[in-house]
Amino acid sequence: MISTDLKEKLILLAKEAQKKAYVPYSKFAVGSALITEDGDIFTGCNVENISYGLSNCGERTAIFKMISEKGPQTKIKAIVCTTKADIACSPCGACRQVIQEFSSPDGVVIYKGENDYVTVSVAQILPGAFTEFIAIEDDGSERRIQKGA
Ligand code: THU
Repeated sequence: MISTDLKEKLILLAKEAQKKAYVPYSKFAVGSALITEDGDIFTGCNVENISYGLSNCGERTAIFKMISEKGPQTKIKAIVCTTKADIACSPCGACRQVIQEFSSPDGVVIYKGENDYVTVSVAQILPGAFTEFIAIEDDGSERRIQKGA
């Protein structure tokens, strides 16, 4: 869990990032702010494309900035998602999977629920996450692929 002060700070930063969103198609600006285990903060907004499927969500923009600036071992302690003040908005499924990939074991996600902001664990927001699989090589041997390894 994070303090109320830190939560409020991340919400404000996400709202600032939200102002920079490139959303000519949906007109739905999303902002995100995250804090890493080391206390660094990164923000992001959604960036759409006329080829709609190429659009990037605000949360993933913040996470990709985090990894590209701090390196592959960096972990999220808390990530916030904001949008229009009166609209409830929880992270999409793709963002949940990406948050899961880079979250610390006790990482949390904060988003606007029906009334106020809610804070939920990554495990709660993506139960049964895809974190490993078995690759079958051409010679029939099996290789276990695990998240981050
Ligand atoms: N969007 C986000 O940025 N984050 C989410 O978690 C949900 C959806 C964006 C994608 C698109 O630019 C717009 O919201 C409408 O779907």
